[in-house]
Amino acid sequence: MSDPTAPLDLGAFPPAFTWGTATSAYQIEGAVAEDGRGPSIWDTFSHTPGAVDNGDHGDTACDHYHRWPTDIALMKELGTDAYRLSVAWPRIVPGGDGPVNAAGLDFYDRLVDALLDAGITPNVTLYHWDLPQALQDRAEAHRGGWTERATAEHFARYASLVAERLGDRVTQWATLNEPLCSAWIGHLEGRMAPGYTDLTAAVRASYHLLLGHGLAVRALRSAVPGAQIGLVTNHSTVEPASSRPEDVAAAARADGHTNRWWLDPVYGRGFPTDMRELYGIDLPEREGDADLIAAPLDWHGLNYYFPVTVADDPTGPVPYAREVRLPDVPRTGMDWQVDAGGLEAFLLRLTEEYGVRRLYVTENGSAFPDTVGPDGVVADPDRARYLEQHLAACARALRKGAPLAGYYAWSLLDNFEWAYGYDKRFGLVHVDYATQQRTVKASGRRYADVIRTHRSRAR
Ligand code: IFM
Repeated sequence: MSDPTAPLDLGAFPPAFTWGTATSAYQIEGAVAEDGRGPSIWDTFSHTPGAVDNGDHGDTACDHYHRWPTDIALMKELGTDAYRLSVAWPRIVPGGDGPVNAAGLDFYDRLVDALLDAGITPNVTLYHWDLPQALQDRAEAHRGGWTERATAEHFARYASLVAERLGDRVTQWATLNEPLCSAWIGHLEGRMAPGYTDLTAAVRASYHLLLGHGLAVRALRSAVPGAQIGLVTNHSTVEPASSRPEDVAAAARADGHTNRWWLDPVYGRGFPTDMRELYGIDLPEREGDADLIAAPLDWHGLNYYFPVTVADDPTGPVPYAREVRLPDVPRTGMDWQVDAGGLEAFLLRLTEEYGVRRLYVTENGSAFPDTVGPDGVVADPDRARYLEQHLAACARALRKGAPLAGYYAWSLLDNFEWAYGYDKRFGLVHVDYATQQRTVKASGRRYADVIRTHRSRAR
């Protein structure tokens, strides 16, 4: 067990380490009906009564679509040198396939130019869950959207369009963000768009998401020579609740569901046999797909938030592993357990088990119920502690050989936290949604200190 009070070992971070923040389009942009953007599955889902806490939706969000110059100034104020953003597919191809919306491409073109002018490297994710609704509505072989093979093909075309427009300036690209959430939470648990609870749909979606990833890698490679391409996946370490063989087996299943299903095929091992048997759903495989899905990558992005502990649950939903809530452990406002050891362990697992040669932490952060004090200060010591503990975990992983090249804090801004709406605040910068006033939190200042100190040592 590492000492959470130990000072941060900044010497472990290489001199060229990337310090960034991350956001995603639907969570911050707003302007959902502006300049030709089409509706996405998240517009539909968030306007479905009861789907999102407080009836919140992304119609305005942080109004980043209009306030991006302010937000770039905030990135500069924090001293970050990179920014992970996502492009909204429905701004570029409002119908999913078919006509291209020039105004959508223009928006990201301006944003990229302004980031580069500010000395901030854009790292562009092509899909962070905002599928054009038109594709969801197109049920051909199954239930529309990612349950259909055609969606993966449309995604590759959209990837080419974005790459052709931005590829002369953007070198860092990610295909998907957290396909686990799109497939499992969106199609199996029903807590995210499109809101299905259908195992067949979920397994088909998982397959087509990874196929779309592979097709998009190919499209990016051909449009942008020299592109640095990665995939962003979210993971948790999984522990059994006891040493009972049933709990140990449940942990292996949960690990398969959360981790191996998403990594094994991408790293050339195919979809894990034990999980195929557990799901019992035929994958819509075609010749050549496995190689596409396993297309070589330049980097892997790990999104890490919490570890999980599970017990056997034979009558529960797939993967028959019930999450056990450990008593007396620190938790965030999401009720997620705080354990930075899981980040260290997963960075090392990606290095040792999957042979990843360049890693980024593409998201990591915590939600707490912050307020702006009468003095204008947002004091958020819990978030600052979470940040420091997780950076310390990065340092330990680096010392043990993980090829970690950068860290993107989630998130630059408080934003639309999906089914939880606006109450869950992850930002290093507080957003007053009534006025759109931004206030850098104490944790943001702490992150800026870390970056400044690291840079001065590295010089
Ligand atoms: O807000 C999300 C983000 O969109 C994807 N990763 C997890 C974050 C916190 O839940």
